[in-house]
Amino acid sequence: MNDDIPFALPLMGAEEEEAARRVIRSRWLTTGKEALAFEEEFAAFLAPRHEAPPLAALAVNSATAGLHLALEALGAGNGGTVLVPSLTFTSTAEVARYLGAEPVLIDVKPGTFHIDPEALERTLDRLCRGLPAYPPRNGGGAGFGPTGRPQAVMPVHYGGLPCDMAAILEICRRRGVKVIEDAAHAFPSELPGGEFAGTLGDAGVFSFYATKTITTGEGGMVVTRDREIARRVSLMRLHGIDRQVWNRYTDRKASWYYEVVEPGYKYNMPDILAAIGRVQLGRAREFLAMRLAIARRYDDAFRHEARLAIPPTGPGDARHLYPLSLDAALDRDALIDTLKERGIGVSVHFIPLHLMPWYKNRYGFEAGDFPASLDRFKREISLPIWPGMTENQINRVADEVLSLVHR
Ligand SMILES: Cc1ncc(COP(=O)(O)O)c(C=O)c1O
Repeated sequence: MNDDIPFALPLMGAEEEEAARRVIRSRWLTTGKEALAFEEEFAAFLAPRHEAPPLAALAVNSATAGLHLALEALGAGNGGTVLVPSLTFTSTAEVARYLGAEPVLIDVKPGTFHIDPEALERTLDRLCRGLPAYPPRNGGGAGFGPTGRPQAVMPVHYGGLPCDMAAILEICRRRGVKVIEDAAHAFPSELPGGEFAGTLGDAGVFSFYATKTITTGEGGMVVTRDREIARRVSLMRLHGIDRQVWNRYTDRKASWYYEVVEPGYKYNMPDILAAIGRVQLGRAREFLAMRLAIARRYDDAFRHEARLAIPPTGPGDARHLYPLSLDAALDRDALIDTLKERGIGVSVHFIPLHLMPWYKNRYGFEAGDFPASLDRFKREISLPIWPGMTENQINRVADEVLSLVHR
């Protein structure tokens, strides 16, 4: 029997199968009733219905698509700048380029995996004064990087732990800059006051990619209380067509007539995925409890080991990842290789964007430009933390890591 422990494994079963079958039997395969129901249920999960202004949820086919749409709805583009953490997946930054804006990288706060509000404020001030985003390396000149007006900030709730949104919102509001939360990892991240990460900025975007906390294989959700953003995202996710036309072939009352008012995109979520998403949504709290229990077990195993640092945590942590930090003296890459040989899948989150060839070449970055991100990256391994892991599997991961650290 193969007793390998994968890095990630979605928990799916008879209910998800039945949901997919229901859609296949209905023979309505594209966006339809299931997607509408998923949106309503998702919004209701995150915000009470009676709340004003109401939270709109708009299903899309990936978080990348959702980030693109949210940024487009804010009017970002044409040489403006969009500020994102350097320690993130490329989606967060690449969507700025789709629109002709320039991503500007911000270092993480030392000792955390989250965008540093102080560094964010300094960079916003440079951009507002017309200076290049990055200060000069050796004291001389005006600096380097894009100079465009800041149009949006996209903090990432890395690993499901909410960013310091109070600080970020205050900094951005004072300068009239919009905030789109990259909540790809953060479902559900409930803060002590009952609010959820992803609902605090001008818009938030969740991912249902195969490894995420709930999954539809591929998929995403944009949430916003801003009616104009909701209207624009809804328009642009389906070709820029001026009204809902998904039922125009089957509903007697629906007209064949429609108008294209913008050159939009093809980002809608099909009903098979939405039906699976509805089941997963119903299991989100159960999955969260399982991830929290795994994280507790890992914390207990590693807390007293001097050469390991357990992940920072705090209120609302959805524990999508378990990013363990190794002492700099340990060979992180060799440890990953050995774990792999022993059948344990691990990953690294993330290779900072400033090390990636495209970003490095376009903006002239050096490895040391974002020292906190670089330090985090070099020492980090993400351990398996998926719902359904058995006690044995959790213990085996912890024991293998400890045995390698002690070698
Ligand atoms: C921080 C972050 N943002 C955005 C995305 C994009 O999500 P999707 O694959 O749904 O487009 C990911 C995916 O891994 C991510 O990690």
